[in-house]
Amino acid sequence: YQIALRGAFFDIGTVADCPDDIARHARYVEDGLLFIRDGCIVALLPWLEGEQYLQPLKGYRDLSGKLLLPGFVDAHVHYPQTEMIGAFGEQLLEWLTTYTFPVEGQFSDAGYATEIAQFFISQLLSHGTTTALVFCTLHPESVDALFSEALKLNMRLLAGKVMMDRHAPDYLSESAEQSYRQTRELIQRWHQRGRLGYAITPRFAPTSTPALLAAVQQLREEFPDTWLHTHLSENLSEVAWVKSLWPEHEHYLDVYHHYQLTGERSVFAHGIHLADAEWQCLHDTGSAVAFCPTSNLFLGSGLFRLPTCWQKKVRMGIGSDVGAGTTFSMLRTLGEAYKVGQLQSYRLRASEAFYHATLGGAHALRLDDRIGNFQPGKEADFVVIDPAVTPLQRLRSGRCKDIYEQLFVLMTLGDERNISETWVNGKCVWGEAEEE
Ligand code: GUN
Ligand code: FE
Repeated sequence: YQIALRGAFFDIGTVADCPDDIARHARYVEDGLLFIRDGCIVALLPWLEGEQYLQPLKGYRDLSGKLLLPGFVDAHVHYPQTEMIGAFGEQLLEWLTTYTFPVEGQFSDAGYATEIAQFFISQLLSHGTTTALVFCTLHPESVDALFSEALKLNMRLLAGKVMMDRHAPDYLSESAEQSYRQTRELIQRWHQRGRLGYAITPRFAPTSTPALLAAVQQLREEFPDTWLHTHLSENLSEVAWVKSLWPEHEHYLDVYHHYQLTGERSVFAHGIHLADAEWQCLHDTGSAVAFCPTSNLFLGSGLFRLPTCWQKKVRMGIGSDVGAGTTFSMLRTLGEAYKVGQLQSYRLRASEAFYHATLGGAHALRLDDRIGNFQPGKEADFVVIDPAVTPLQRLRSGRCKDIYEQLFVLMTLGDERNISETWVNGKCVWGEAEEE
């Protein structure tokens, strides 16, 4: 090994079919030793078993009192919308035209895109997020800017250029042909470079002509190991609009399914107002959804049906959906997910919540063979958490009887102040040990 860290560790050992499964495979090592080599995890052992492998000259870093978790996975976020969090007063469609499109228009400027991409990545890291599935803008410059920054840190990041060829302002419009060509070039430039992956990103059905979705289908066929990332059934006016634009399709998801955009590497953000047949189609095609609680509450979109998602066995990750979402913090996002559950009499346990934010999110993105827990061979992406950084947290966490209560309090009261360090590929990229 090259690095050894001592502290408390929590993770979930395997992907799960139900919340009880998650709880069964939860692992808490109260005093553990993590060994890292070449950016990957060699072993996580209880201190008493691991101590014998410590080499005197290398030693270990003592993080006793801290809690180490797998790095958080943000399954849906828009980096160009970082600067417009908290845009007042509108629901989805008016929010897009009033606030979002003008902001995204600025990303034709490569210098500006680089400035925001750097800021965005530093926000992900300071909030404990090590992997994200990211919307860029229409401009190839916006994709180059983001991937360049992520490559410097060797992050496992998925992203793509927004594709849209109707119902957008002139400065954010393109032809289906141009969209195809530029996306193709970006895939060839970035896909599988370092730990990067390309996600083909039609914005959503209303800003796509049939020709655009046909171009997406063709790209999916040419590059089957890329991802497909779009929005689905977020808002009732949006659903009605899709029905009027695509009257020949019974449901919103049928539009995507018709172009074979459903599948194992497809991630649909939101999925709030879905018919039973759409859930079934998500299941049958192995598609995944991203649940974005802060966004759904902020835009008044509706309540994601977590229990249905389990019943239908659809893979799900948690998304911040910044800038409709109101925080980069997965801790705060989990706290809001819990409240969305409460409004439907669903009890989101801490073990389940942290599963969705780590291994479950990785599973939704088909990255669970690489990241998501502390299993030997996985890439060493993790966060070091200080569970009590405010007077209130110190009082409250002192009363916790076990790790589950501790984690639940963390998702209720916690935020980026609790993130002491963020490690990517075996290196501390944010926090105290960064300079070492
Ligand atoms: N649907 C289409 N575009 C967007 C977007 O930028 N944000 C959200 N939340 N929903 C969308
Ligand atoms: Fe979104």
